[in-house]
Amino acid sequence: MYKAKAYSAASETSPLGSTTIARRDPNEKDVQIEILYCGICHSDLHQVRNEWKDAMPTVYPCVPGHEIVGRVTKVGSAVTKFKAGDLAAVGCMVDSDGTCPECRAGLEQFCPNVTYTYNLPDKHLGGVTYGGYSDSIVVDERFVLRVPTNLNLAGVAPLLCAGITTYSPMRHWGVGKGKKVGVVGLGGLGHMAVKFAHAMGAHVVVFTTSPNKKDDAVRLGADEVVVSRNADEMLKHERSFDFILDAVSAEHDINAYINLLKRDGNITLVGAPEKPLAVPAFGLIMGRRSLSGSPIGGIAETQEMLDFCGKHNITSDVEVIPIQKVNEAYERLLKSDVKYRFSIDMASLKSN
Ligand SMILES: NC(=O)c1ccc[n+]([C@@H]2O[C@H](COP(=O)([O-])OP(=O)(O)OC[C@H]3O[C@@H](n4cnc5c(N)ncnc54)[C@H](OP(=O)(O)O)[C@@H]3O)[C@@H](O)[C@H]2O)c1
Ligand SMILES: [Zn+2]
Ligand SMILES: [Zn+2]
Repeated sequence: MYKAKAYSAASETSPLGSTTIARRDPNEKDVQIEILYCGICHSDLHQVRNEWKDAMPTVYPCVPGHEIVGRVTKVGSAVTKFKAGDLAAVGCMVDSDGTCPECRAGLEQFCPNVTYTYNLPDKHLGGVTYGGYSDSIVVDERFVLRVPTNLNLAGVAPLLCAGITTYSPMRHWGVGKGKKVGVVGLGGLGHMAVKFAHAMGAHVVVFTTSPNKKDDAVRLGADEVVVSRNADEMLKHERSFDFILDAVSAEHDINAYINLLKRDGNITLVGAPEKPLAVPAFGLIMGRRSLSGSPIGGIAETQEMLDFCGKHNITSDVEVIPIQKVNEAYERLLKSDVKYRFSIDMASLKSN
């Protein structure tokens, strides 16, 4: 065991502050990573503030962070994929049973025994797992991803959650050439969805509540931008979408988007607001439309997504911040005031 520097929250009403945590010494299959950048996901904020208390109550102290990129410092004797000095990344999961049908299908995100990167029981040290707002992490090599070497690292970190969470459902629902695809909410997830849908060849329409993001949406790859508070603009797109990805973090009217789907169109929720959304039956019935959800993505698909990003030169648009600004960043996230992901430069943790 060794001590690592980290930022944690002591309760749902406390700000994040500097602390030290225990990390295990690498076992034979483990990779130890010096964390260079960690993205700030809106899920970190939901979890730190215990907004998902029914589904995933928070255990305090909580060290969030699941968009991790860094450099390997040490590997266990049985590790084959990595050596010291390599770039490496870790997303939302650090372990699973490896034997259930979901794991065997490469869909570890559905494993009943999955261990998330933070806030789930830590099999090695007891207590719960601690995430990436830290200077290092130790992870089984099965859950460590290879990073394309041509990409900006601060912009790679958010791919590990915002990237895979939007890439996976778009692959699943066949986003590509000839498809009209909507993206609701131009935040961390939404802006990655726009980049991917554009790179996959779809016609992309962004729905935003922030008129000042219109030019950015086009720069990111949108063919059209709709300010969703404008009912007339919304009406123009009635019954026209094959697929809509809803990446909104707060309460909103999902029926307005269900009505924009074609017959047999699908809307997938990746946004996970604190309160339930009201879904009127007739919106779904009349067009045989469907509503789905989707959690992150499996390890093999996460690697595929990173390789796709390497090939297409895709990274997240980031505002790099020192960790001392994390509480301020959370407040800005709540105001949709980030273009389009905060990425923490973990070198800043050295001065704590
Ligand atoms: N399913 C999964 O596996 C998974 C993974 C990661 C995150 N998530 C969840 O996905 C959601 C988005 O995460 P994120 O990190 O992308 O958050 P984010 O960066 O804060 O983006 C959320 C966006 O939603 C829009 N929005 C915010 N409040 C709104 C409101 N009251 N009404 C309508 N639109 C609103 C804003 O876009 P505009 O300014 O364009 O309107 C905002 O930029 C969160 O709930 C997060 O927990 C789920
Ligand atoms: Zn996330
Ligand atoms: Zn499993």
